[in-house]
Amino acid sequence: MTTAEAIETTKPIPGGREVLVEFDDGIAWVQINRPAKRNAMSVGLAQEMNEVLDALETDERCGVIVLTGVGEAFSAGMDLKDFFRATDGLGDIERHRAYRATRAWQWRTLMHYAKPTIAMVNGWCFGGAFTPLICCDLAIADEKAVFGLSEINWGVIPGGVVSKAIGTVMGDRQALYYVMTGEQFDGAKAVSLGLVNEAVPKERLRQRTTELARTLLGKNPTVLRQAKLAYKYSREMNWEQASEYLTAKVDQTNFVDPERGKEQGLKQFLDEKTFRPGMGTYTRPE
Ligand code: COA
Repeated sequence: MTTAEAIETTKPIPGGREVLVEFDDGIAWVQINRPAKRNAMSVGLAQEMNEVLDALETDERCGVIVLTGVGEAFSAGMDLKDFFRATDGLGDIERHRAYRATRAWQWRTLMHYAKPTIAMVNGWCFGGAFTPLICCDLAIADEKAVFGLSEINWGVIPGGVVSKAIGTVMGDRQALYYVMTGEQFDGAKAVSLGLVNEAVPKERLRQRTTELARTLLGKNPTVLRQAKLAYKYSREMNWEQASEYLTAKVDQTNFVDPERGKEQGLKQFLDEKTFRPGMGTYTRPE
């Protein structure tokens, strides 16, 4: 029995209620599983998602996470009944805990997750769903998926951290247009707004997402982790701080990398002349 088979048979699959996880050769497909409610996000979903993401971070079956939804929706945003109305009725401390559970997975965890994350937007994507979408590293949408900052239509502002999140990927004119009109837009428009990387026909969505995930799985995982974290943290710094931080981060990455990627890359390019960094990844150890 190989190590992979041993893990497969002995380790339970996390989630199973409102979050489903499927493993496929290094990819963990994490699916919001409330299709009858268009995958609207409840307090219970947040609690389960926190457990799932925590478990997958150290699960060897997961090299990349794809976040998506079961059925016809990515997510119709926060659940107006099982999040808003439910928490409005709670005491201050209980409400704080419910909000904390949601903030945890939707941005704190996803933003700085130890493994690469791809959002696969397979359908409806409204309001609060923009936060996990934006906090995933990359995103691919069905070109016909329907997006909307619909909050204004039902009497609230884009809260949680949506207003902050959209400003990291969209320009002010575009963000304010959709915040203030609540108009829908499709996957192709989402590309031009910077919300997703690509939009493809529905029948190609899973295949294209898998291809992208496989590309990421082919990279040195330590360097990939440090690269995305460095990008996200340095974005919040001024130039002087970013320059010092990134110089130190290069050294730290080298220090913690079991593959000794930089050393290998330099040797293979400069001494052995067996690869070109501009053309692909260096030959990694088996
Ligand atoms: N919160 C709670 N329940 C929701 C929901 C949400 N965000 N989105 C959908 N649902 C529920 C509906 O209440 C309905 O429940 P019911 O069958 O018990 O009545 C079920 O999901 C199906 O919704 P329905 O509106 O009938 O589906 P649809 O396919 O016709 O329309 C949407 C889909 C997404 C366009 C529509 O449901 C919608 O506008 N949802 C709200 C989107 C939104 O504004 N989200 C922002 C929240 S921050």
